[in-house]
Amino acid sequence: EGLYGSSRANSAGLELGHAAERQQLLAGMAAVGLPAGTARPLVPGHEATGAARPLRSPIDGSLVVGEVIEADVSLASAAMVVAAKGFEGWSRTPVETRAAALEKMADLMEARRDRLMTLLAVEAGKTLSDGIAEIREAVDFCRYYAAEARGLFGEGRLMPGPTGEENRYRLRGRGVFVCISPWNFPLAIFLGQVAAALVAGNAVVAKPAEQTPLVAFEAVKMLHEAGVPEEALVFVPGDGRVGAALTGHPHVGGVAFTGSTETAWAINGALATKRGPIVPLIAETGGINAMLVDATALPEQVCDDVITSAFRSAGQRCSALRLVYLQEDVADHLIEMIEGAARELELGDPRLTTTDIGPVIDAEARDNILSHLAQMDKLGRIKFAGKVPGGALSGGTYVAPHIVMLDRPEDLTREVFGPVLHVVRYKAKDFDAMLDSIAATGYGLTLGVHSRIDATVKRVVDRLSVGNVYVNRNTIGAVVGTQPFGGSGLSGTGPKAGGPAYLQRFALEQVVSINT
Ligand code: NAD
Ligand code: ALA
Repeated sequence: EGLYGSSRANSAGLELGHAAERQQLLAGMAAVGLPAGTARPLVPGHEATGAARPLRSPIDGSLVVGEVIEADVSLASAAMVVAAKGFEGWSRTPVETRAAALEKMADLMEARRDRLMTLLAVEAGKTLSDGIAEIREAVDFCRYYAAEARGLFGEGRLMPGPTGEENRYRLRGRGVFVCISPWNFPLAIFLGQVAAALVAGNAVVAKPAEQTPLVAFEAVKMLHEAGVPEEALVFVPGDGRVGAALTGHPHVGGVAFTGSTETAWAINGALATKRGPIVPLIAETGGINAMLVDATALPEQVCDDVITSAFRSAGQRCSALRLVYLQEDVADHLIEMIEGAARELELGDPRLTTTDIGPVIDAEARDNILSHLAQMDKLGRIKFAGKVPGGALSGGTYVAPHIVMLDRPEDLTREVFGPVLHVVRYKAKDFDAMLDSIAATGYGLTLGVHSRIDATVKRVVDRLSVGNVYVNRNTIGAVVGTQPFGGSGLSGTGPKAGGPAYLQRFALEQVVSINT
């Protein structure tokens, strides 16, 4: 049973260990033709004038995924005007129709899984298991928000009051929501924001990350097919300048942003100085995510969870583990185990079932990670450096897993968005100082705790206001409707995607008081 009594179950996904299912997926993906077409702005009544830019795969620069024609600042402005018009009709569309469109979208994604899987792999470098998980999450967002919206956006709620007066409280759309997303979940996060804004009765102007417009374009076309009017959902691929033009536009009724803390600051600044309605910003950003391991933790489980949390998705998750704190009594043993397991990770083409770690998104991301590693190397801190095999991988943007030893946690000053695990040892007597140092980063997205002592877990959870705390397990892959996801402080404004309070962030509250 869903929160509001609707029956809803998360998508079943696909079990890669099942040979027949796996073969069917691989055959389906092999049949998807590349290049996969041209992503372009979808703004009714307007055409983009720019030239098409080829989109090269992180798997290999010679593999062209497709192309994109980007919007410019004036098309972004036109998109806001079109969406403002679209809002008039969509906001009056019954919630049942809006919710049904999301449910149709979920069905369409399941039916077109192989094409989406291919785009996720070649455009974003997603491994098969990451691609499956991402489609599941996108499907779950649609069905979950549809179910939640039916309970929240109906006739509203009668409030208690004096006889002779009717007071009705209700939620409605705010206007044009600008949705800006990152490349690391080009389907699930892109769609999660858009679906939430739409089902709450807003019109949406959606801007995907410049690295991954194709899968987003596909999602927008599918939402139109599922029943969302073209004027209520417009699509403007482009870079940060296009994003800035959208968030600075007078018609903006709200912004949902997921990406880096720096960009969230820039958007917050733009909203603060623009003239016009004062609108909310939903920001979901990064973190320097930590895991604490004490001497009571189970070593095999710690090793498995550290490897999954730090290296899955090539470390390109906002939730990924960046800094593990190991109590000194168990540190040497654990480091040896973790290093041994990291050595076994297979770097490779993400479309192969044998691959654990695919490429990072592009050359800029790779160079950024490598420059951090070069700095750590100069300081003599590299404990383990994996190797990128030459040959087939030489044309792609691959980074091998690395383990870096730090003297002090403060030595890691920024989110390193790749397969790099930092390790710090601590003494049991310094436990509280360690919690202080985690709090002092200012981030608050994910946190792992490995301990068999309940009082220790409580002490950690009470001290740190981190959005998602995972105890004796890995720290990634929050499940829609089960682990609402999002952080605070430098990690965001606090809303929980896939949680019961998310849709309200996209809505305007209204009370109608009638003297009967
Ligand atoms: P980014 O901030 O560089 O870009 C994100 C989006 O913002 C892109 O679409 C970009 O074009 C746009 N943008 C850039 N400048 C802009 C501006 N001035 N105004 C408006 N829009 C602008 O982030 P990224 O590199 O694409 O993504 C990686 C980051 O995202 C990491 O920091 C990661 O932790 C974070 N992230 C957070 C979550 C979460 O849920 N908390 C989830 C995934 C990723
Ligand atoms: N929601 C994603 C995770 O939990 C980012 O890994």
